[in-house]
Amino acid sequence: MFVRTLSLRDFRSWEYAELELSPGRTVFLGSNGNGKTNLLEAIGYLATLGSHRVATEAPLVRTGTERARIGATVVNAGRELRIDVELNQGSANRAQINRSPVRRTREILGILQTVLFAPEDLALVRGDPGERRRFMDELCTTRLPRLAAVRGDYDRVLRQRSALLKTAGRHARSKADLSTLDVWDGHLAEHAAVLLAQRLRLVHDLAPYLARAYASIAPESRPASIAYRSAALPPEFLDPARTPLPEDTEELAAIVLRELAAARPKELERGVCLVGPHRDELDLLLGDSPAKGFASHGESWSFALSLRLGAFELLRATGAEPVLLLDDVFAELDRRRRAALAAVAADAEQVLITAAVPEDVPAELAAVPLRVDTAGGPEGRVSRIVAQDRPGNGADPALEREGDPITGAPESRAP
Ligand SMILES: Nc1ncnc2c1ncn2[C@@H]1O[C@H](COP(=O)(O)OP(=O)(O)OP(=O)(O)O)[C@@H](O)[C@H]1O
Ligand SMILES: [Mg+2]
Repeated sequence: MFVRTLSLRDFRSWEYAELELSPGRTVFLGSNGNGKTNLLEAIGYLATLGSHRVATEAPLVRTGTERARIGATVVNAGRELRIDVELNQGSANRAQINRSPVRRTREILGILQTVLFAPEDLALVRGDPGERRRFMDELCTTRLPRLAAVRGDYDRVLRQRSALLKTAGRHARSKADLSTLDVWDGHLAEHAAVLLAQRLRLVHDLAPYLARAYASIAPESRPASIAYRSAALPPEFLDPARTPLPEDTEELAAIVLRELAAARPKELERGVCLVGPHRDELDLLLGDSPAKGFASHGESWSFALSLRLGAFELLRATGAEPVLLLDDVFAELDRRRRAALAAVAADAEQVLITAAVPEDVPAELAAVPLRVDTAGGPEGRVSRIVAQDRPGNGADPALEREGDPITGAPESRAP
């Protein structure tokens, strides 16, 4: 698939943007802080309804404005769909598919699929388990968009159950509290089972792609592997090579319920929910050692890159080909890892790259350059695309005239 058009209003540093994009490779070039990553972040948002940089949405809305809008035309196997999202400060977000409002923003999930690789990805290896849970859940949702609803339900039940554990733990436990808790246990186990089944399937499916990607990037290192870790599930469920996969959600729910019952006294004592996918972890291993706290800086980078490349290859092998978003990554990589990434990027359907200077992007990719600039005064700087460099030709002078950028000219703004 590929993004054919991208429209932004008041997203981050972009007051306005209207871009036509092509399949193949495009690189957004420009100085630091000009708004290049913001473009990839906007595209990533349409695919995941989240940002790879921030957990809240307020920073995505341009300072001094009330709402941000992101729209894109996505072409998948010759079929075009238009998606639009409005991020509202202080009220619910809204979305449209082909200009018709949808009831829930998450209905747009699955239309655009992306795999984004960014400097922040080092946190996949070095960060908290929450980073790796998010990695798994986003990928699971890309594969199965209806999982977004399950994740939403799970989070809601978890919040309510945790609140009840806190009050029931603090005060004398009434029978009513405990029977309400039983009801929440049932809901939690039901949603947990669906999430667990998808995560187990993902780890099973991703493991070989991850191992291959790592071996090609860092052949001199120990082999890399991944495994799902869950206090709730018996060890035989966690073997990534296990077949058939544990997909019986009733069986998984029964196991979670049993573990919840066993953990109840401790949960009441501590006032937190100790069992469920929110406590689980994706173990990253180099040989027999955990990558976290053990891998070198270079190995950690290779592992993070392999997780993304593995995800890309997995999605491509099992469904539509995702758009590959590479935020400022080539400059961070050594020769071999650059080459491994370039090889994948060379035959991907669409790759959008950001870089400060053209030398940061492997020349063999022959990426089409788009120059990103900022203009404005102390009240705030606004990003704009100033010109499309013509390879070998320099920038097109017609597009470089003062006040005549491809985007950002207020008079050309659509309603
Ligand atoms: N909500 C916002 N409103 C206005 N401007 C914002 C907002 N959020 C971020 N910015 C501005 O966007 C700019 C950062 O954009 P971005 O991260 O895309 O830069 P970049 O071109 O990728 O830079 P680098 O090369 O350093 O990675 C900063 O100047 C920041 O002040
Ligand atoms: Mg950037």
